[in-house]
Amino acid sequence: MIQDTSKRSSKSELEDLIKARYSLIYITSPEEQRVEESLRKLCVEREMRLEVWSITEGFKVLANGSGVRDVKDPMKAIDHVLRGEGRALYVLRDFHPFLKEPAVVRRLRDAATELRKTKKSLCILSPVTKLPPELEKSVSAVVDWELPTRAEIETAARKLLPNAPPATQQQIESDPTFMEHVVEGALGLTLVEAENVFAKSMVRTHTFDLETILEEKKQIIRKSGLLEYYEHREEFSDIGGMDILKDWLIKRRNAFSSRARDFGLPLPKGILMIGVPGTGKSLTAKAVGALWQMPLLRLDVGKIFGGLVGSSEENIRTVIKTAEAIAPAVLWIDELEKGFSGTGSSGQTDGGTTSRVFASFITWLQEKTSPVFVIATANNVQQLPPELLRKGRFDEIFFFDLPDREDRRAIIDIHLRKKKRDPSKFDLDKLIDATSDYSGAELEQAVIAALYDAFDTGNDLDTEGLVNTLKDIVPLAVTMREQIDAMREWAKTRARPAAARSRVQSKKDAGWMAKYGATKSNLGDKVGENAGDDGERKLEL
Ligand SMILES: Nc1ncnc2c1ncn2[C@@H]1O[C@H](COP(=O)(O)OP(=O)(O)OP(=O)(O)O)[C@@H](O)[C@H]1O
Ligand SMILES: [Mg+2]
Repeated sequence: MIQDTSKRSSKSELEDLIKARYSLIYITSPEEQRVEESLRKLCVEREMRLEVWSITEGFKVLANGSGVRDVKDPMKAIDHVLRGEGRALYVLRDFHPFLKEPAVVRRLRDAATELRKTKKSLCILSPVTKLPPELEKSVSAVVDWELPTRAEIETAARKLLPNAPPATQQQIESDPTFMEHVVEGALGLTLVEAENVFAKSMVRTHTFDLETILEEKKQIIRKSGLLEYYEHREEFSDIGGMDILKDWLIKRRNAFSSRARDFGLPLPKGILMIGVPGTGKSLTAKAVGALWQMPLLRLDVGKIFGGLVGSSEENIRTVIKTAEAIAPAVLWIDELEKGFSGTGSSGQTDGGTTSRVFASFITWLQEKTSPVFVIATANNVQQLPPELLRKGRFDEIFFFDLPDREDRRAIIDIHLRKKKRDPSKFDLDKLIDATSDYSGAELEQAVIAALYDAFDTGNDLDTEGLVNTLKDIVPLAVTMREQIDAMREWAKTRARPAAARSRVQSKKDAGWMAKYGATKSNLGDKVGENAGDDGERKLEL
């Protein structure tokens, strides 16, 4: 069983704020109706009057009372709140455009002080968080309203049940996991989006079709322009070498279960993978989704700051909110340095936005209680802000070096098999000798290029053909020697190598090796021996 997030719900968070006499609260959510419904329930429970304002309708009482108040002017609306009696919660819908007017801002600041002496709270409800700096201090809190929970999504799905054919209804009754999968399929969407997705599936397939639901969700998430929902899953056995990292990941494959919590294990936070290009960092990120049986969300950090969609602050919040709603999930942040590089100096260039966004990301990373595992990758360590590397941010920092002999053996083996060739028919030692300095990506490239050459000449792929093709490929490591050396130097004291230095196979390893397709041959012939001096990784540059 996967454990539920231990996060407080937005409704109880707001309740705490009201109890603590916070007078001005900013709620961010695109789901006005859903939030207001929660607020209505809260006000009924706490016997507070709920009055909701909009520019078109003025005030309307939604709980513990009735009636309307024809005050459409924003200034007068604030006055109305100040005049109100008793315990009350006021909601101003879409008020953010008026926060551009100095008089309104001033009035709100004064109101915040006055309201503190009363039993009234004022909420601004808007799809975006847009606060002028003068108000930032007066607004007591910003609540980022969570996306729908499992229970809410399930209610939306069940509403459609009467329209479903009897077969679907029977399936839901007889197989409790069916509804669970349907609900999981729509996590991360707003309630309206989830309802639409279910309705579309009903119209198209006359049932809750998981494929339709996931396909729709993928598109909705992609449309946000920040995240991509990954479905195609690389197998864990597609990764050659990297024994230390594999072992680390395999040990944590059940770390999100309630059994692990009961055992006293902390929730894994995430890892940072840095290293030489083409050494399988992205490949590993994708394979973790499959190994842990969790959905994988890929974040394009560049787009957070790109300015094409929303503001950067809004964007990082959306990403976190979506990942937490889908959780347990893996959030894969590829090429982290592209977004967060130079946060130190950005104060001068972008008004500190990058630093602020980075700070909120770091805080979330450190304090998150939801089962979102972050996998970040980076090539250029020099560009990463040092705060990111401090203890407590990531569980571990792994360094991906160029593959050594035995890892190359494993990688060549994998790529020959992928092309339906039998590795035992190749002289792997000869190929390993010819490929020092080659990254995993270059080894793959070499196999493909040699296949083309063989196809062209009418022969099948063989060792000689591969060795000949290799002569034409100049590995990146040759042109990037200095950068790679610098990276190794950096990693020596700050990161853990992803690949094994010593290849001693313990009994314990034998279990996972068999299960995940690692073999003695693809891990190298030193397995089982005490590697002694040879165990020390030899740098081959
Ligand atoms: N250890 C490996 N085992 C098997 N294949 C590998 C390995 N390393 C790289 N490859 C192959 O090379 C391809 C590209 O690697 P990948 O994109 O994961 O590298 P990367 O470290 O993310 O590179 P970059 O730093 O340029 O983003 C993979 O899809 C895979 O086919
Ligand atoms: Mg990559």
